[in-house]
Amino acid sequence: MKFDVLTLFPDLVDRILSESIIGRARAAGIIEVKAHQIRDFACNKHNNVDDTPYGGGNGMVMAAPPIDRCFKAVLADLPADERRRIVYLSPKGARFDQAAAKRLAEYDRLILLCGHYEGVDQRVVDRYVDEEISIGDYVLTGGELPACIVVDAVSRLIDGVLASPECHEDESIASGLLEYPQYTRPPVFEGEEVPAILLSGDHAKIDAWRLERALELTKERRPDLYDAYLAAHPPKQKKARRTPQKGPAEGDASC
Ligand SMILES: C[S@@+](CC[C@H](N)C(=O)[O-])C[C@H]1O[C@@H](n2cnc3c(N)ncnc32)[C@H](O)[C@@H]1O
Repeated sequence: MKFDVLTLFPDLVDRILSESIIGRARAAGIIEVKAHQIRDFACNKHNNVDDTPYGGGNGMVMAAPPIDRCFKAVLADLPADERRRIVYLSPKGARFDQAAAKRLAEYDRLILLCGHYEGVDQRVVDRYVDEEISIGDYVLTGGELPACIVVDAVSRLIDGVLASPECHEDESIASGLLEYPQYTRPPVFEGEEVPAILLSGDHAKIDAWRLERALELTKERRPDLYDAYLAAHPPKQKKARRTPQKGPAEGDASC
């Protein structure tokens, strides 16, 4: 999977996506992330990329010509048969969720446009963008953090990025429920013990305990998910999923 991020702050994007699991996936060539500096495509002597909004109002708008030239450079010479999607990160977009991450993970390339200031000239959105995505009902100063969130959530679904597919299937939301509480060594921390069942070695009981905790938590915090889960899993089928019972291993944090 390839990601191209069009931004005024490529170093920010690059730095965030250079650490931990995503950084390792990039180093291993499983995913590719290129951050493109829109300012490099400015054609005026001060490299300006923004201007005041027509019709008046606050702030500055990112102008169409540099973004257009940046898109043209990114899109030049891409394979014709590549499945790609162009996304503008915007508070006006559809709310990003796990289903959207899964859908976007089907593409070969995602091209992500990050706005700044008051956003970008609508004409580049109309010309290039397939969809607008918001990461939530709040307004940030720029699209760089949203773009990194999309890259992270999508990359986790790409084969080889996590240690095993169960890593993401088993998570909160992806599984349909919020995840059960997790514990690791030491077994007693400042007088607080790990639930005894988790040390029992009885996988069926552990799975049943985890499912119960997950159901409780989801019912309390996300009744919408809880109802959807019950509708999809009528009580008789409510079986605990078998999770491999490993003791905590040093440094194995790749989920
Ligand atoms: C200050 S915002 C612009 C907000 C715009 N004037 C509006 O009211 O819709 C600057 C940029 O940050 C990004 N951004 C801000 N909040 C976002 C969110 N919730 N989701 C995705 N991108 C966001 C977008 O790329 C946007 O162009």
